[in-house]
Amino acid sequence: MGEAVASGNVLLDARELTVRFGGVRAVDALSLQVPAAGLVGLIGPNGAGKTTTIDALSGFVPHDGRVLLDGADLTHLPAHARASAGFARTFQSLELFDDLTVLENCLVAAEQPGFLATAADAVRPGRRVDVDAVWWALGVVGLEAEAGRYPLELPLGLRKLVAVARALAGQPKLVLLDEPAAGLDSGESLVLGQRLRDVVGHGIGVLLVDHDMGLVLGTCDRVYVLDFGRVIASGTPLEIRNDPSVIDAYLGQTHGPGPTRPVGRSPGPVAVPGDGAGGRTP
Ligand SMILES: Nc1ncnc2c1ncn2[C@@H]1O[C@H](COP(=O)(O)OP(=O)(O)OP(=O)(O)O)[C@@H](O)[C@H]1O
Ligand SMILES: [Mg+2]
Repeated sequence: MGEAVASGNVLLDARELTVRFGGVRAVDALSLQVPAAGLVGLIGPNGAGKTTTIDALSGFVPHDGRVLLDGADLTHLPAHARASAGFARTFQSLELFDDLTVLENCLVAAEQPGFLATAADAVRPGRRVDVDAVWWALGVVGLEAEAGRYPLELPLGLRKLVAVARALAGQPKLVLLDEPAAGLDSGESLVLGQRLRDVVGHGIGVLLVDHDMGLVLGTCDRVYVLDFGRVIASGTPLEIRNDPSVIDAYLGQTHGPGPTRPVGRSPGPVAVPGDGAGGRTP
């Protein structure tokens, strides 16, 4: 583990994070903090760099800048070591094993990876899974009754919660969620928001990426707004909702076509609480 750095109540402290793909700075000197047991949103147009930020924080892509979790500097650690240190993430595409039950999906996620596990297998084969932690994770998102069912038997809203439970099964300090509300109807999104508050209630930090403004502005304590890899605003949901630069860059898309992004992904309508818009990007 890296050097300890005093950071008070801050759980995640990302400093000047930069990710380059060729000549493109997908994430550009981004600094972001998630307090202990805080629910923080990260929003922005298609191609703004949200997923790349999650990739960088969790160690899936190389980056400049520093990543500190709970006072430990993880900057130079690979993804599996960051996971051991307390990071968990979900993916924009719902990556569940359809031929495993909900419980089995979470058990698989809770297995401890890494060299020590491999070495232990050699002398004492068997899985090192904290089954209690898996049931705890299912309980946090309200899925205990669905443990024996297969993902495709469940509505999308519950499948999304299985992905959150999988992330929680390793008992992380911080979960990074990439568009958990994509495809959900407003009722499912509301339930998801309540479950995320429950996660935070268990002392776990959450960084929530989503285009569902009802969810983000309705549940987060604080929100960061990205555009072209840079933080253009941060503040409380109320501050963000009324920030002209955010309305220009993102929220204004609700009522018209969005800006063209470098990769040509189609910008979609953004759901803002109270405007009746229900669309969101895939
Ligand atoms: N592996 C990669 N190689 C090259 N460029 C990439 C790669 N991954 C992402 N990018 C580019 O980085 C920029 C940010 O992409 P990213 O996927 O992080 O956006 P996003 O904010 O998550 O968008 P969305 O809302 O559509 O999910 C885009 O210009 C994208 O094309
Ligand atoms: Mg993305």
